[in-house]
Amino acid sequence: MPEPRDTYTVPPNGRPLSEQPRWRRDFPIDWPLDNFVARRDFTKFLVLTSLAFAAGQLWIVVQNFIRRRRGELPVQAVAPLERVPVGGILEFSYPREHDGCLLLRPDEHTLIAFSQKCTHLSCAVVPRTKQNEFYCPCHEGHFDLMSGRPVAGPPRRPLNRIQLQVKNGMVYATGIEIRTV
Ligand code: FES
Repeated sequence: MPEPRDTYTVPPNGRPLSEQPRWRRDFPIDWPLDNFVARRDFTKFLVLTSLAFAAGQLWIVVQNFIRRRRGELPVQAVAPLERVPVGGILEFSYPREHDGCLLLRPDEHTLIAFSQKCTHLSCAVVPRTKQNEFYCPCHEGHFDLMSGRPVAGPPRRPLNRIQLQVKNGMVYATGIEIRTV
């Protein structure tokens, strides 16, 4: 808050600060007032930036929701089931060429697939089967291999899961489950 009124320069017209023109209030002569304006502007900036960020997040969520409602994601062949090794991991792309994904087959009857995109800042995670985890080298993020849930490091959300279907011996990717918890 500004200091008591008598520590300020008296404006040329002698009227109180509240009656001064906007330009004089925004560009005060006295340091305490100048600091006050700077803090107020900084707070305004923080609030506006937070609102813009929240709006951006909301926009992404709405876009994803609409896309899923429209069924825009393609059904795409991943690999013949016989070519997915039990206990192994297969890389594939879905839904676009540069969207890396990993297909796991922990046992004969189970298939799980995750997007490789780290939920912190989108680096590609790599599987470490011995440690039972996906590892993100960018900021030391760790995800559980079976569930894709974050277990250590900065990521807070699980890896997005790729929905799968097996038909006539072929594994298909049919959609993306975007997970928040
Ligand atoms: S981008 Fe993966 S931990 Fe930061």
